[in-house]
Amino acid sequence: MHIRKFNENDAEEASKLICTTLMKVNTKDSPLFAIKEQCSEYSPEEIKKLSKKREIFVAVEKNKIIGTAAIEKNYICSVFMDSSMIGKGIGKQLMKNTESILKDRGYKKSILTSGPTALGFYKKLGYKEIKKEYQRGQLTGIEMKKKL
Ligand SMILES: CC(C)(COP(=O)(O)OP(=O)(O)OC[C@H]1O[C@@H](n2cnc3c(N)ncnc32)[C@H](O)[C@@H]1OP(=O)(O)O)[C@@H](O)C(=O)NCCC(=O)NCCS
Repeated sequence: MHIRKFNENDAEEASKLICTTLMKVNTKDSPLFAIKEQCSEYSPEEIKKLSKKREIFVAVEKNKIIGTAAIEKNYICSVFMDSSMIGKGIGKQLMKNTESILKDRGYKKSILTSGPTALGFYKKLGYKEIKKEYQRGQLTGIEMKKKL
């Protein structure tokens, strides 16, 4: 597995991964229509647009994208694993890679918004809740931070 920067040729594959994971994993704790809306925000065209303001990274194994993560300043977002690769330590590696980039750039902390599904994952990586759960439209968000 290696981690590299996203390029526009990855948009179709990254979109498919994110939407499949959203539908298979995140529908367990969020309403289906809200998840479908989130999927549309990660269409190939939207991902290309996002990549102009966010730096997106992809984890690749045997030429296949198996995970994504992105940064906007010191905000980490778009962390998604291929649903068949969940629990294999790839998410942790992507987060470590992302955090070390932020640290190299001089940031003292990283921030993110977790959904309910990922809360335990981020806590395991040392993230602390900044404020209690709140609603982001139909989705629940938990703002978190970590000292780098
Ligand atoms: C959340 C997600 C990114 C985690 O990635 P992953 O590759 O499955 O996680 P890892 O295998 O690297 O797990 C790292 C550690 O966190 C723990 N962990 C992972 N998910 C967890 C969870 N939901 N609750 C509690 N602990 C969790 C693992 O047990 C592991 O612990 P260890 O280091 O002691 O072995 C992945 O499950 C995913 O894509 N979920 C759906 C999309 C999503 O919700 N993304 C976040 C948007 S806010």
